[in-house]
Amino acid sequence: MPAITASSPGKVILFGEHAVVYQRPAIAVPVTQVKTKVSILAEPQKSSGSVQVEAPAIGLHTNLDNLPADDPLVLAICSTQGALNLPHLPAMTIRITSTIPVAAGLGSGAAVSVALVRALSAFLDHPLSDAKVSTIAYQVEKKHHGNPSGIDNTVITYAQPVFFTRGQPFELLPVAEPFTLVIADSGIKSPTILSVADVKNGWQENPAYYDSLFDRIGEISRQARGFISKGPCSSLGPLMTANQNLLKQMGVSCPELDLLVATALDAGALGAKLSGSGRGGNMIALVAPELAGKVSSALSQAGAARILVTLVHQTQPA
Ligand code: MEV
Repeated sequence: MPAITASSPGKVILFGEHAVVYQRPAIAVPVTQVKTKVSILAEPQKSSGSVQVEAPAIGLHTNLDNLPADDPLVLAICSTQGALNLPHLPAMTIRITSTIPVAAGLGSGAAVSVALVRALSAFLDHPLSDAKVSTIAYQVEKKHHGNPSGIDNTVITYAQPVFFTRGQPFELLPVAEPFTLVIADSGIKSPTILSVADVKNGWQENPAYYDSLFDRIGEISRQARGFISKGPCSSLGPLMTANQNLLKQMGVSCPELDLLVATALDAGALGAKLSGSGRGGNMIALVAPELAGKVSSALSQAGAARILVTLVHQTQPA
């Protein structure tokens, strides 16, 4: 029997990170240049319930029983099993590979959950709906990111640009004109849970100040929705830079990200900002396609650890 495989893209947040945790709208887009792939192979010669998990990149080769109950892989597998009402799992080997950098704001954790739930439910002959896949990935995120908004699991599940407000139905965003983003990794690992907790502390100490930052960011996301769905996409640039300034005031940028943002703007980017939880991870720059090479080289020279160039465009629903 051939292996059952599912893959999921990475993501970047174009507008609204952190504010989205506090019910302001945000926009995220898939990044298809990086992906997580999960393959599941039946092991009929092994006893029922034997689930071997292989993730060579992180040196994981073990039976599921050896992982702690709150491990994200265990949570995703058990939640899928629960959603399908299956008392036992057949013997199998699950192999996970990923080109999405970890703790860099590209959604690596949510991508593993989404691909795993999809592959496992297909392997068990009951492929779950996108809504259910996204819900399970969200439950896993909740255990590991403290207070996730749900934007990461949503954009990665649907693999399309989304306009997302916590607690409300999300919108799949049409893209009027394709636009090019340069994504540069500061090389600093930054776990989402820490910066989300710091913003929460700041907000609790000074709610009026943080709420006004969140409101201004929410307004930027609303304006950006119009430019993405109707054009011109070049108008997104100043909005990105304005969003970056508000993220700086929130305390989630860092000197390395500030340098990369300034470098991209100097090299001709139309706008630039950090993307994700900040304090490290990635920044993004909107560029005219012909300037992607120049901006990428400038970012490399300024110390970016890794550069990706992606075209955001209209995608067909999966
Ligand atoms: C993480 O990709 C984005 C944050 O807004 C957290 C979240 O939305 O869950 C920082």
